[in-house]
Amino acid sequence: MPASIDELLSLARTIAGEAGELVHARREAGVQIAATKTAPEDIVTAADRESEDLIRGRIADARPGDGFCGEESDATASSTGLTWVVDPIDGTVNYLYDIPAYAVSVAVVEGDPDPATWRALAAAVVNPTNGELYSASAGGGAYLGGRRLRVATGKQLSLALVGTGFSYDSRRRGLQAEAVSRLIPRVRDIRRIGSAALDLCAVAAGRLDAYYEKGLKPWDHAGGALVAAEAGATVAGLHGAPAGRALTIAAEPGLFAQLEPVLDELGVIDR
Ligand code: IPD
Ligand code: CA
Ligand code: CA
Repeated sequence: MPASIDELLSLARTIAGEAGELVHARREAGVQIAATKTAPEDIVTAADRESEDLIRGRIADARPGDGFCGEESDATASSTGLTWVVDPIDGTVNYLYDIPAYAVSVAVVEGDPDPATWRALAAAVVNPTNGELYSASAGGGAYLGGRRLRVATGKQLSLALVGTGFSYDSRRRGLQAEAVSRLIPRVRDIRRIGSAALDLCAVAAGRLDAYYEKGLKPWDHAGGALVAAEAGATVAGLHGAPAGRALTIAAEPGLFAQLEPVLDELGVIDR
């Protein structure tokens, strides 16, 4: 069934909001680790699964035939050309510790669900702890609630507040920390907020000047990357590569041009 981008955006917002309420209610009731994944530090809670089930069900009801690619369940192929890329809780460790920086991220992309080739159409990222809802659509701009977001230009790298994240793999985390130790004298400061989706939205909202991370999965960045890009940020990897697992950098174009060669020099892509 063909849908307009506005309809997809509206659906993404509604579903992310509903899942956010569920996740928040479960947090109030108390959270326990349900299982570990790639490492003991890489956890899943019952609420992650419940949130993904809810989102998956709502999408299947509203858009039968669309594909689904979420963190906590098997992918479903698309028969419409559209696929929903979903992180049911981004920032699960924050969620476990009740640190109010986690999100539900719901994005819909056209083409194969591969960040190298997809075209993101619409996205919603909600932080259920404060009700902030970021959303964006291709060509339609980025919003925080009803406020249009535009990245500020003219920032010098030495005065940039830069967000990043670390791998669940302890060896890689150590290498990433070494790179950060060499970056931090060259920027204003570093933040490790703990949710890639919120980091990308923070670039859109001017709460971070830049963000970079190696190792992101499609659901970590699909929604936030569209929000950042629609706010005017460049979101990409090194040397014109698309954003993805190798590296995701987000910053307004002038700052991106200053940060990219520094990250290249620090060898972040090999870490
Ligand atoms: C993680 C968060 C974190 C980032 C990791 C992600 P999860 O997602 O976005 O900030 O540094 O790379 O895996 O596991 O909380 O969904
Ligand atoms: Ca995630
Ligand atoms: Ca997650």
